[in-house]
Amino acid sequence: MVKNYALEELPAIAKEVIKSSKNKVLLFYGEMGVGKTTLIKEIVKQLGSLDTVSSPTFSLVNEYHTISGEKIYHFDFYRINNENEALDIGVEEYFYSGCWCLAEWPNKVENLLPLKSVTITITSNSDQLRTLELRNNG
Ligand SMILES: Nc1ncnc2c1ncn2[C@@H]1O[C@H](COP(=O)(O)OP(=O)(O)OP(=O)(O)O)[C@@H](O)[C@H]1O
Ligand SMILES: [Mg+2]
Repeated sequence: MVKNYALEELPAIAKEVIKSSKNKVLLFYGEMGVGKTTLIKEIVKQLGSLDTVSSPTFSLVNEYHTISGEKIYHFDFYRINNENEALDIGVEEYFYSGCWCLAEWPNKVENLLPLKSVTITITSNSDQLRTLELRNNG
């Protein structure tokens, strides 16, 4: 799927992403400041979590809980120096846990990504308008 969206359409886009995703490992590609965290916030909310979403810049991963008891892991690999740092936090266990995994900067851990995943690429058209492309892998 390919969709253009402005900030006001974020709830609708998040809903579509959840509906279109055939597995729970969502990989968010896109330049700095394009809107990865912004979209993840809305997705986490719609998955039924009341937790505060903020980018896990230093810890690499944040854990959120939904009201139904599901876990959501939010990764930001931007500051990672090498894939070993991701292996050290047990990234593979997270990816194969069956829980929701929402990852920013997945290109930094390219060799560790599961074959079954969903690639979400966000590009910026203007100040307010973004294009989202979603592809199911595996
Ligand atoms: N249509 C839109 N969708 C998402 N964000 C938008 C949109 N229009 C404007 N913005 C603004 O763009 C910014 C996106 O910031 P955000 O932190 O989500 O980016 P990011 O991709 O996570 O960046 P980083 O790579 O640094 O983590 C926010 O300030 C947001 O308000
Ligand atoms: Mg971010």
